[in-house]
Amino acid sequence: MPPKPTVLVTRKLPAAVEARLARDYDARLNASDKLLSADEIVAGVQNADALLPCPTCKVTADMIRRFPDRLKAIATFSVGYEHIDVKAAKERGIVVGNTPDVLTDATADIALLLMLGAARGASEGERVVRDAAWGAWAPTGMLGVHMTGKRLGIYGMGRIGQAVAKRARAFDMKIHYHNRSRLSPDLEQGAVFHARAEDMLPHSDFLSINAPATAETTGFLNAARIKLLPDGAIVVNTARGPLVDDEALIAALKSGKLFAAGLDVYAGEPAINPAYRSVSNAFLLPHLGSATTETRVAMGMKAVDNLDAFFAGKPLPARVV
Ligand code: 8YV
Repeated sequence: MPPKPTVLVTRKLPAAVEARLARDYDARLNASDKLLSADEIVAGVQNADALLPCPTCKVTADMIRRFPDRLKAIATFSVGYEHIDVKAAKERGIVVGNTPDVLTDATADIALLLMLGAARGASEGERVVRDAAWGAWAPTGMLGVHMTGKRLGIYGMGRIGQAVAKRARAFDMKIHYHNRSRLSPDLEQGAVFHARAEDMLPHSDFLSINAPATAETTGFLNAARIKLLPDGAIVVNTARGPLVDDEALIAALKSGKLFAAGLDVYAGEPAINPAYRSVSNAFLLPHLGSATTETRVAMGMKAVDNLDAFFAGKPLPARVV
């Protein structure tokens, strides 16, 4: 029997995933879940054939240059892969795979939670209950914004954007979207396509950000684009923090230009812009998009499927480069 391929796994993964890795690979697991530095990852992949990282571990061009020649596969435990320098990987003949599809529903569910949480003041509501600050019920107290029947603008209509639209239709929301390319009518399902995001924003009582982090999408929601939203709009982000200009968003939440925001992702997370913590109309979650047991197991299995395919000489089920 040929020796099992060696793989460095940078974070602790669900038990079922680690059991499969331990069975089929010479797996270098991270039982303590300690965050590895760049040097530790480079040291950890010496004499290894593959790397299984998470978005919490950057895999830079410099690190990739220091990887051993025998390392030929990177299977990330995430759909997003902006933490990996895929160009540098390609140059070294390293194949990169990710985990699309399996986290679509969980992430879209969180987008709806953010929309409702932001619209209905869930954060503030929970605080007053916990702080025993719940005064007498008042006809005009803690009024939120109605979500049912409103217009939803979706920036990035890939798998997750489409899953958000599907859920929003149950709230009778009218869907507008901007995407690099227009969807076919069966996928569009009556949603209104805008070739320019700027044309969609005035129709977005709610705006859901669902595009990947790229050079083009970074800084998308800046002060000028926030201005294009209707007054009192609600913004939610389950994609990546750098798509939002934090200072501009915080200013719009404070001025009342925006009614509220719901955020699951942040530039520099977990070290978020501290001003968010004191903005009471921001509903803040700690990157929970894919955080269900079912989803995290499925993500791990998909990452291992990518490795299995690679070492069997087959096409990866989900290949980035
Ligand atoms: C988490 C995600 O980052 O898959 C992604 O790209 O953003 C989320 O699923 C991931 O679960 C952390 O490993």
